[in-house]
Amino acid sequence: MDQNETLSALQRATLHLEGQFIYGSNYTFMVLCQSGEAAFKAVYKPSHGERPLWDFPTGTLSQREVAAYLISKALGWDLVPPTVFRVDDAPLGPGSLQLFIDHDPEKHYFNLDRRQKIHLPKVMLFDHLINNADRKAGHILISLEGRLFLIDHGLSFHVEDKLRTVVWDHAGKPIPPALCQDLARVLLELTSGADLHADLESLLQPEEIAAIQRRGQALLDGGKFPLPPEDRRAYPWPLV
Ligand SMILES: Nc1ncnc2c1ncn2[C@@H]1O[C@H](COP(=O)(O)OP(=O)(O)O)[C@@H](O)[C@H]1O
Ligand SMILES: [Mg+2]
Repeated sequence: MDQNETLSALQRATLHLEGQFIYGSNYTFMVLCQSGEAAFKAVYKPSHGERPLWDFPTGTLSQREVAAYLISKALGWDLVPPTVFRVDDAPLGPGSLQLFIDHDPEKHYFNLDRRQKIHLPKVMLFDHLINNADRKAGHILISLEGRLFLIDHGLSFHVEDKLRTVVWDHAGKPIPPALCQDLARVLLELTSGADLHADLESLLQPEEIAAIQRRGQALLDGGKFPLPPEDRRAYPWPLV
């Protein structure tokens, strides 16, 4: 299935709850999806399962998962597995549904090989743009084919700077021109009236969408990967 087929299969498939991930912080379930002849696994996060947090409004984390996917797709970097917001016939109510990536659970940020490390500049820009407050090492997956994927973006898009990540590899270095181009293109798509902006409006608050633009513009103006902040925690806990 190509990406668009996967998205429509995620929206249409019959969902069967298979089990719950016990290491996640929320209600995170493995579901078996059946769509016509196709059967595949997905990760389902119902909005109702979210534990209240002091800094993010309850019931919005699964929308943030979908918004992160849309930003990743718009950048053209395809770091986040296809993700939809599923409303109809979801076993525990509306929530995010993301394609499950078969991966080696022993692999994560701290043991990437050289081929995978090539993608870290993109990861860092992506996290900065979405203001990811929780980029743990284990939220970077390596598929069985060796491709790098990013997961768990529920704690993103806050209007205040909250970037907490293990990925500071390129801090202070210039952002490569090709990545600046991708960023500039997405900033245009974030203006009112553009498709991406319209899609995000059902997932985020207007001030949160404006904050993506503000962070993106600051990255372009500064031209460098950001340095870790000194006035607050720069790393998530635990690290993995
Ligand atoms: N798309 C995915 N593909 C494969 N495994 C996933 C995917 N999403 C989540 N997982 C697995 O489920 C665990 C919990 O998911 P995560 O998104 O971190 O949820 P939580 O919001 O509960 O922390 C992850 O550590 C990972 O092992
Ligand atoms: Mg997690």
